[in-house]
Amino acid sequence: MAHLAHYRESHPLPFVITHWTNLISMIVLILSGFYIHFPAFSNFMGIARGAHMFFAFLIIINCIVRVILAFVLESAPTGGTRKVEKDYKAWLPQKQNRHQLIPWIKYYLFIKKEHPLGGKYGNPQKLSYLLIPILILFMGYTGFCLWEPTSTIGFFAAGTELMGGLMAMRIIHYFMMWVFICFTMIHAYLANIEGFAPSKMIFAWKEHGGLVYDPDKGCIVGEDNLGQEKH
Ligand code: HEM
Ligand code: HEM
Repeated sequence: MAHLAHYRESHPLPFVITHWTNLISMIVLILSGFYIHFPAFSNFMGIARGAHMFFAFLIIINCIVRVILAFVLESAPTGGTRKVEKDYKAWLPQKQNRHQLIPWIKYYLFIKKEHPLGGKYGNPQKLSYLLIPILILFMGYTGFCLWEPTSTIGFFAAGTELMGGLMAMRIIHYFMMWVFICFTMIHAYLANIEGFAPSKMIFAWKEHGGLVYDPDKGCIVGEDNLGQEKH
């Protein structure tokens, strides 16, 4: 199937920056987290803990900034168009996505060859992207339960007591890392499933031509080769 055209309006620069911040923070948090869990070599714990806490604060601030920006900035609500509206609308159920959950799941399970056309994000994408900020905040909560300067504060100490102590909290924090590892691997795979070009969040400045979609009419209305000859 021909792809929808990819325009910069899909992912404005501030969202590319928050996404890169997520990616880099996640890599450092996973690597330093692994080291804290399995200190395979010596004399590195200070650096690992320092880096872990720096990027922990960064990813939490980034997460809050990203959510606020969704209500402030505009982006294209679907691929293939330069029309923009408030970004948060692309995260919530849209009329263009109605009745598409089952077809999307069939596509992911290789039962259907083509995925439905709809909003910028398919239904399972919306669900998983909405879950990410919740998981980051939950990770932050379990992390601050473990961090000495905050672990005795009532809000965090209560959680640790509920879970049965610091060791249980450590296991939850460690287990949650695997949730993020699985998400990132599946997410990066799906982002590139139709060829490397759809890695638009990473290389968002690279526009490519394709089909033009009208979000108001909910259908393809033409083709845009961005002024280049078709091969
Ligand atoms: C978001 C805010 C986060 C905070 C505040 C935080 C805080 C902490 C702290 C204080 C420790 C040290 C625990 C100890 O010394 O026993 C720790 C360990 C760890 N963190 Fe985080 N962290 C955060 C996010 C993450 C993320 C996103 C990951 C991975 C995806 C991660 C993976 C780990 C792992 C694997 C450990 C070692 C746990 C163990 O000993 O089994 N953390 N974290
Ligand atoms: C190599 C790793 C990654 C690749 C290739 C990648 C790729 C992408 C792409 C292509 C999109 C846009 C999807 C679309 O327009 O249909 C996207 C969006 C998104 N990604 Fe990633 N991503 C990666 C890592 C991560 C990580 C580590 C996180 C979270 C911790 C993350 C969270 C998100 C979120 C929340 C969105 C929704 C858009 C937004 O935040 O503005 N990604 N990613």
